[in-house]
Amino acid sequence: MDHFLYRDGVLHAEDVAIPEIAAAVGTPFYVYSTATLERHFKLFDEALAGTDHLVCFAIKSNSNLAVLRVLGNLGAGMDVVSGGEYLRAKAAGVPGDRIVFSGVGKTRDEIRMVLQGGIRQFNVESEPELRAISEIASELGLSAPIALRVNPDVDAKTHEKIATGKSENKFGIPIAKARAVYAEAAALPGIAVVGVDVHIGSQLTELAPFEAAFTKVRELTLALRADGHAITRLDLGGGLGIPYERSNSAPPLPVEYAGVIKSVLGDLGCEIEIEPGRLISGNAGIMVSSVIWVKEGEGRDFLILDAAMNDLVRPSMYGAHHDIIPVIEPAPGTEGQPFDIVGPVCETGDTFAKARVMPPVGQGDLVAFRSAGAYGAVMSSEYNSRPLIPEVLVNGDQFAVIRARPSFEEMLGRDSIPEWL
Ligand code: LLP
Repeated sequence: MDHFLYRDGVLHAEDVAIPEIAAAVGTPFYVYSTATLERHFKLFDEALAGTDHLVCFAIKSNSNLAVLRVLGNLGAGMDVVSGGEYLRAKAAGVPGDRIVFSGVGKTRDEIRMVLQGGIRQFNVESEPELRAISEIASELGLSAPIALRVNPDVDAKTHEKIATGKSENKFGIPIAKARAVYAEAAALPGIAVVGVDVHIGSQLTELAPFEAAFTKVRELTLALRADGHAITRLDLGGGLGIPYERSNSAPPLPVEYAGVIKSVLGDLGCEIEIEPGRLISGNAGIMVSSVIWVKEGEGRDFLILDAAMNDLVRPSMYGAHHDIIPVIEPAPGTEGQPFDIVGPVCETGDTFAKARVMPPVGQGDLVAFRSAGAYGAVMSSEYNSRPLIPEVLVNGDQFAVIRARPSFEEMLGRDSIPEWL
């Protein structure tokens, strides 16, 4: 469920009509719903009630400071994968003891920065990283809480570009090697072993891969405890998928996912951390665009939008489906017509959908891409010198621009021409 619904024939974000926002900020733009963000966070938080837990929002899915503030105000933790994301979490008001630092390539500068700023835990992905954290923490006279991210060699059954839990993926420490690396960690200065971390992939639509991975984490935890490590925390990553196509069957619910966590790991007495991104932010956002031209082609018609692959890259990068709906609701029984829906960028890959059946839409009409709140704005670029599009947050009947569209001057002003030219 989300808060983008037609009212009196006009698409609204909560209580605000989309055309009103379009008139204020121009198209294209992203708009997020506070109520949906809050609701989705609470679905996880409430599903884990009764178990000591922290829901850490995966900032990579949507890193706007206002979005982080909404979630931080509810007590969310944050999962960050770079120094920049760490600074965003802090700027949104989230304290270091609610921030976990994941990522396969943390640099020494980043490690130093988060140690100095305060961090709940490092999810360590390799032995060289572990040794670097030990060195830097010792130098600073600090103790770094760590979990090792283990690679359980489980098939997440998702798109190959976002599966992370198979042995051929770059992520984590092979689970078979984990006991030896924990032994090394326990002996290193400046390191406090606190837990085990796993994340097997994103947009998972079945529970079985989670169950397989959590079962391996359980076995490892028991073995590590037998080896003398005090494992008190389990970080289970993110990855629960969302229904991108309304017509398709829905992925499992957070409450069902939490049921698997409790049944596999509930008796271990560990604090549970999870790192959902997409399920919290995905359906909390849409991207609104307008039709520039309707072009008749050879055997097909094109809807040429003012949004492009640089604004929402998921369709061209992963072949991802986003529902695209007109902002003005078609009358019941209106006949649809197939369109190839494309952007203005100069490559064929700039295609959002092929032969998508749409109700009659014409030049200047507004359309909305659903489920665009996760991995939308964060993955955008200025390819073709198209300035980043604005982000808007709605709360009830109010809305605010939470990232402004840069002017052409600002965009050009970031370049400089050397004196010798
Ligand atoms: N934790 C870790 C360590 C991760 O690598 C990720 C996502 C998450 C949590 C959050 O996963 P989520 O709950 O959002 O599925 N750009 C791609 C998705 C990349 C996901 C990367 N890691 C897309 O647009 O589908």
